[in-house]
Amino acid sequence: MSIIYRLIKEKKIEKTPVWMMRQAGRYLPEYMKIRNSSKNFLEMCYSPELASEITLQPIRRFDFDIAVIFSDILLIPQALGTDLDFVRDKGPVLTKTDLSTEEGIKKLSADNVLKKLSPVYEAISLTRKRLDKEKDLVGFVGAPWTLFSYMIEGSGSKNFELPPKNSKALFEILTEAVSKHLVAQIEAGATVVQIFDSWSGEISTDKYDEFVIEPTRKIVEYVKSKHKDIPIIGFPRGSNFKYEKYAEKTGVDILGIDQEVPLEWAKERLSDKVVLQGNLNPFVLLEGGDRMREETEKILRSFGEGSFIFNLGRGILKYTPIENVEKMIKIIRG
Ligand code: CP3
Repeated sequence: MSIIYRLIKEKKIEKTPVWMMRQAGRYLPEYMKIRNSSKNFLEMCYSPELASEITLQPIRRFDFDIAVIFSDILLIPQALGTDLDFVRDKGPVLTKTDLSTEEGIKKLSADNVLKKLSPVYEAISLTRKRLDKEKDLVGFVGAPWTLFSYMIEGSGSKNFELPPKNSKALFEILTEAVSKHLVAQIEAGATVVQIFDSWSGEISTDKYDEFVIEPTRKIVEYVKSKHKDIPIIGFPRGSNFKYEKYAEKTGVDILGIDQEVPLEWAKERLSDKVVLQGNLNPFVLLEGGDRMREETEKILRSFGEGSFIFNLGRGILKYTPIENVEKMIKIIRG
């Protein structure tokens, strides 16, 4: 039985599981070696062998309890028909499909998504075979709101506007595609899944239910209807006080909190509703030293050893010294 499954069932286990968002990535020399000999980031994502190897790199080096499949949330918009490019040192560029017209929306299709993303499932099943049984393998998606934001603005700017009818249609397509992609990842061997809503902090409070809670609730419902025991992590980054509503209404088992969420508040308002995951500030990990030790210990004290999942408040930064990661793990494991 995997560690996270046990944690959900038993509420408290003998040790605190630890992993990091973006744990496979540019701060690791072994990752850079593969990246420098590959054509581009997408080629790495679509090669099951490379993706599996990269997924396992941080597990070999740090013995994390949890692996996260090397992939990207933007493969879904691409599989729906949007042009996607990762420009070196700039980030993702989605070529704007014309989503303002009905024809533009009709061109997007959730039908072929699973076929186009089959290398991801292959990477997951390869990795599952190579990973220790008790370690978890996280499959993931971007939430509809976050994907919608990237799709209508090309690269994540903040002027989200479409005719209401088209927004609704696009949300439905994204919700369906994301739900199916999660189920396919579980069936390939993912033992837990995470929904990244990286832009949920950008949405006005009165629209939060419609664009964040409701699509997430539907996705959770769909996934649980196929695999009722699979643990689901929601990570609505930047949601501030709305984390509470998200914990109450979406049905996720585990809630990822970012570093802005005060520990006392999280303990009081969230920890009776969900298992918490978080939330060391990645800048503190980059800095290391006494401050990192203090902050790590504070998090462990707040949430109780063995009853939550240690992670960062967002992805690891690329200039983070490897020895800081090693020290953080030592502090957590005692
Ligand atoms: O190790 C892991 O966490 C697994 C792999 C993973 C990647 N992307 C690989 C990646 C995961 C879970 C993601 C999620 C993701 N992708 C999110 C949600 C989390 C978050 O950071 O908010 C988002 C918004 C994306 C979209 C994306 N992908 C951006 C904005 C960028 C460029 C900027 C950046 O941070 O590098 C990427 C590229 C990307 N995805 C890299 C990796 C390892 C860097 C590729 C490289 O330069 O080598």
